[in-house]
Amino acid sequence: MAFTVVRFIGLCSLLLGYGVHVEASHLVILHLQSHQNTTATHQPYRTGYHFQPAKNWINDPNGPIIYKGIYHLFYQYNPYGAVWGNIVWAHATSTDLVNWVHHEIAIKPSIDSDINGCWSGSATILPGDKPAILYTGIDPQNRQVQNLAVPKNLSDQFLREWIKPPQNPVMTPIDGINASSFRDPSTAWKGSDGRWRVIIGSKIDQQGKAILYRSKDFIHWVRAQHPLHSSNNTGMWECPDFFPVSVNSTVGLDTSVNGPSVKHVLKMSLNDKLHDYYQIGTYDLKMDKFVPVDNGSFNNGSDLRYDYGKFYASKTFFDSSMKRRILWGWINESDSEQVDVNKGWSGVQAIPRNLWLDKTGKQVVQWPIEEIEKLHEKPIDWHNTELKAGSVLEVLGVTASQADVDVSFDLSTLENAENMDPSWANPQMLCSEKGSSVKGSLGPFGLLVLASKGLEEQTAIFFRVFKPEKSFVVLMCSDQSRSSLGQDLDKTTYGAFLDVDPLQEGLSLRSLIDHSIVESFGGKGKACITARVYPELAINENVHLFVFNNGTENVRISKLKAWSMKKAQITY
Ligand code: FRU
Repeated sequence: MAFTVVRFIGLCSLLLGYGVHVEASHLVILHLQSHQNTTATHQPYRTGYHFQPAKNWINDPNGPIIYKGIYHLFYQYNPYGAVWGNIVWAHATSTDLVNWVHHEIAIKPSIDSDINGCWSGSATILPGDKPAILYTGIDPQNRQVQNLAVPKNLSDQFLREWIKPPQNPVMTPIDGINASSFRDPSTAWKGSDGRWRVIIGSKIDQQGKAILYRSKDFIHWVRAQHPLHSSNNTGMWECPDFFPVSVNSTVGLDTSVNGPSVKHVLKMSLNDKLHDYYQIGTYDLKMDKFVPVDNGSFNNGSDLRYDYGKFYASKTFFDSSMKRRILWGWINESDSEQVDVNKGWSGVQAIPRNLWLDKTGKQVVQWPIEEIEKLHEKPIDWHNTELKAGSVLEVLGVTASQADVDVSFDLSTLENAENMDPSWANPQMLCSEKGSSVKGSLGPFGLLVLASKGLEEQTAIFFRVFKPEKSFVVLMCSDQSRSSLGQDLDKTTYGAFLDVDPLQEGLSLRSLIDHSIVESFGGKGKACITARVYPELAINENVHLFVFNNGTENVRISKLKAWSMKKAQITY
């Protein structure tokens, strides 16, 4: 990554010179950390329908659950400033995953075993509909330990108060576990012996590990002799997530389900790469191990990612009311820490995504939860529109700064597609070499979003179709190189290969545009790319939306639907 605001370094308590302190994985500028108040009134980058608090720093989504019909989202939060530090669990609830009400901080340092911070973790619903949270606490020696928290009052459907049983910490870094690489307990699941299991992210040297613990009562945890899974040369595994997916349907499953019509997904947030990688495999109950389908590891080049842009430390939960599995992820900033301090906030949560196993069984598919369609207004509907080679068409009538757009392209022949060089194995590199302004044959075509009228600023999300030896390769790109006239921004271009047959299925692209965020879903959710951009001209009513074709071949828009998006109600 060319430039990142929050660098994850994987070292604990290392002093890097005056005023700079690295805690675990987030770079902390001490003099920026405490009690700042922003005076910035010009706020063009705040979002309209993404989840964010009124101010300050946020990172990982924590412990999402549904309890008595209410959705809960907790998240890592600095109550005192717009950079990482002083970490607590903030808490908000919702009945629709779109509109939110904030509550008091749910978990904050109060006992020895979390006195230096309440870091990430997960919730599990125990029998009798009793939620329990496991989270990482930082103890007085700056060791990472795992703590339990339970609701004070189960009849409060908002679960506003949490208590920490006296048995804490319930897991400690003993017997060779590295005390600065032992964090982020997963949601627990039950094995066939009736005992609970959780995994904790860890590493030994550069080997990433999901350390497995078992418990009968959720209080006394015993470490298994072997990890659930491990991989060489990956570095630290943060925020592990492990859950079943159905082989023959899109419905979600409770985390404890296993059986012949089930595969398992293991997701890791790789600290060294700042991306969320996952593998599909089976959960071998006898060995208590995850077995990836291709026997792969997290660095075998297969590189399955939830999102090929900015999206990290994600977590799923089973929504028992709608029988679906929902994915939350953190979108961090692409500007500088000083700019975050000036604007008074940093970080947003991505729109929750429904997640299921693709029919091929080779990857997962993600799609924005249907509830966000409640925010649709002023629909635009185009059918059967020719998009001539070299053309740019404006989509008028939509509030282009806050919109949902879904376009499908039809290609009549792939004969003239450019040839694919087999050495082009890295889609992100390919996208940056062949950005939206580099003419091709079948593509680049797609959307120009958050664009200024004269296109001085634009974020291009597009496809290019290549012809390798046998079939076709679809490349999906999100090109931020011209997204802002501003300097000192991360303008990395992102890319992914899309596993679709463009002649049979067509090529579809949906983008959720929200002032400074563009979440794009290619091939009906087979590849997702999230972009974080800060236009200077293309803000509010000066934002435009276009479709473009910079290839030499015409393509046809079979349909284009776009909606302005209403604001979500977020009460602080
Ligand atoms: C991931 C992470 C977690 C940790 C938390 C601290 O972004 O580094 O591993 O628990 O953030 O805020």
